[in-house]
Amino acid sequence: MKFPILFVLPFLLAGCGSNSASSSAQQSVASSASFASGAASSSNTLVAYFSVTKHTKGIASYAQEHLGCDLFEIVPKQEYTSVDIDYQSDCRANREQNDPSARPEILNQISDFSSYDTIVLGYPIWWSQTPKILYTFLESYDFTGKVILPFCTSGSSPIGNSAINLAKSAPTARWLEGKRFSASDSKEEVANWLDQSLQEKNIMTLTISGKPIDVTWEQNDSVTALSRLKPLEVSMSRFGGFEQVGPLGHTLPSHDVNLTTVPGDIVLYSSNQIVVFFGSNTWAYTKLGHIVMSQEELTALLDHPNVMLNIR
Ligand SMILES: Cc1cc2nc3c(=O)[nH]c(=O)nc-3n(C[C@H](O)[C@H](O)[C@H](O)COP(=O)(O)O)c2cc1C
Repeated sequence: MKFPILFVLPFLLAGCGSNSASSSAQQSVASSASFASGAASSSNTLVAYFSVTKHTKGIASYAQEHLGCDLFEIVPKQEYTSVDIDYQSDCRANREQNDPSARPEILNQISDFSSYDTIVLGYPIWWSQTPKILYTFLESYDFTGKVILPFCTSGSSPIGNSAINLAKSAPTARWLEGKRFSASDSKEEVANWLDQSLQEKNIMTLTISGKPIDVTWEQNDSVTALSRLKPLEVSMSRFGGFEQVGPLGHTLPSHDVNLTTVPGDIVLYSSNQIVVFFGSNTWAYTKLGHIVMSQEELTALLDHPNVMLNIR
């Protein structure tokens, strides 16, 4: 087996195959249990990673700090020693990568896996692919409906088709495009990537009374928090002859300012109610978005005692 030429030098410089293999499995279990306090808005996101020489661990920690979410280290039952990852020999890692049926066992488990809807998944590149333990991980849980955002670290190889191949183990998840980091990438680079990638996840589809509605959403943390409530059904009532209003059942971050709304505006009222206007009003609201429709269409859609709003 030959490494791609491009990757050999940086790989050596990065110190892989040195004596810096992971610390004891016991220590790793302890670190995987030390969940962050976590901003409430990211409580349904988990950063999960596998790392032997701690490059991926560093990037995963940046991601976890930025998102304020939980962190889970995939700890192998049998620790990888420096001999196990000595890729220039017939080492354990190489043998596993060459064996399609290899599924190295995992020591620890994610408690309350169902509470997460988004998994940021990190791994080192081994021979241009994910280590086989990632397959064990993906086959251990039901990822149906979850969003998976993969990232890797490597000497120089790109993420390539590593995540695409891994995705075959969890085809019912929604896989976002992954990214390769080097061990020296900054927290800011990781944060920018997360913000951009998770924006895509936050795309929301709105229907009112079953009709799909085109919305231009604002870019603020209220909208981000709203998108995390998906799927959401809100029973709305006409109020004041100019709006439909309904309870979200949750409190969202708000940045209320005095607004004079126009028909089509969607706003957050009192942090916990969503309002859609077919007329106008002046009050303290946080703007969430605007429906792209004529006044006549809006009136036909919203000027009823009750409507049902769905966000998916
Ligand atoms: C068995 C093995 C195979 C590797 N294959 C590649 C490779 O194909 N391309 C590459 O750029 N780096 C390769 N590397 C280097 C690692 O991807 C890189 O050092 C990574 O950052 C290690 O992550 P970790 O510290 O989280 O374990 C390999 C390392 C090992 C141990």
